[in-house]
Amino acid sequence: MCARFPRDARFGDSRDAKSDSFARELGSRNSRGPAWGEAYVGPMPSSVYPPRTLAAMLGLTVALMLGSARPARSQSGDAPRNLKVLPADLSRDSIVKIMRFTVASGLGVTCSYCHGAPGVPFDSIDFASDERQTKRTAREMMRMVSRINGELLPAITTRGTPPIEVQCITCHRGAPRPLMLEDTLGTVIARFGVDSALATYERIKQRYTGRFAYDFGQRSLNTLAARLLEQNRLADARRVLELDIREHPEAWDPAFQLGQVYESLGEKDLAIAQYRRVLTLLPTHAATKRRLEALTGRAP
Ligand code: HEC
Ligand code: HEC
Repeated sequence: MCARFPRDARFGDSRDAKSDSFARELGSRNSRGPAWGEAYVGPMPSSVYPPRTLAAMLGLTVALMLGSARPARSQSGDAPRNLKVLPADLSRDSIVKIMRFTVASGLGVTCSYCHGAPGVPFDSIDFASDERQTKRTAREMMRMVSRINGELLPAITTRGTPPIEVQCITCHRGAPRPLMLEDTLGTVIARFGVDSALATYERIKQRYTGRFAYDFGQRSLNTLAARLLEQNRLADARRVLELDIREHPEAWDPAFQLGQVYESLGEKDLAIAQYRRVLTLLPTHAATKRRLEALTGRAP
């Protein structure tokens, strides 16, 4: 039976509580933010879904930022008071749609990630306030996105059709800090060790499978293992590759890599078994055949 990391029995010690909250911090600087940056899962009835301009939004519809096709202007007294990037005369309704469908959902957070303070009910939030660092960063991000879409991409003369605009979600993938899975796990390994990183992997996977934020394909763990091998951290690479092949039993390349790591660690029998596995997955793999022959003294 494959070890499925019984969460509490094996990894439920306080060190993991620490590494877990550390990983969460990596995923979000906002300690009040939802764990791992909870997705914005509010209703999205099509009647509310904004017209085309907003869909292209932030790509914000460069148009919007650069001042051509603008959605409804504000006529009423609740007009936004502190817009420095978005057109200052947008109606509150347009702003809220942008905030909701592009900004909050792109980062997988709720409004309170950037607006409000602990314990402040939604109705009393002062959305114009710049008190929160996350809001101020988001404003810089809007400027960056506007520049990418407004200046940098248009400078490329060979763009495809239709031209694609960058949006918050393009980088953020529904997470407040756009870290790759291998970055998060690599940082946890460096700080808390490989056991904690494997536990973190399980928790992130439980939470994020089926979403865009993390790539649970073999690429992430392969990349992490390659980085560890570069640093000659064989024992850690071994653990990551063992996880990799449990998660992706059909993949031959982490299996071959693991065989090599076993060899380097002097685990001859494990190496042979792993190389044999590779040949069941990819019978023609010449390098594996050579390693098997070297280890067993005869052609496989
Ligand atoms: C990732 C950060 C972030 C999130 C999440 C976010 N906002 Fe904002 N919000 C901003 C920024 C930045 C501005 C200012 C934009 C500018 O300066 O042009 C802003 C401005 C606003 C304003 C205009 C305030 C004024 O009077 O100037 C409103 C209203 C608003 N947000 C509502 C919301 C709502 C509702 C949500 C949740 C659906 C939300 N925001 C989620 C960053 C965020
Ligand atoms: C081109 C890629 C890219 C795009 C597009 C992008 N971001 Fe970011 N964003 C980043 C990176 C990278 C960081 C992390 C910066 C750092 O701290 O090193 C970041 C960080 C942030 C943070 C700080 C999060 C925290 O808790 O520290 C906020 C808020 C944010 N982005 C909001 C936005 C919003 C809103 C948009 C869309 C208007 C956006 N970003 C679009 C790359 C991007």
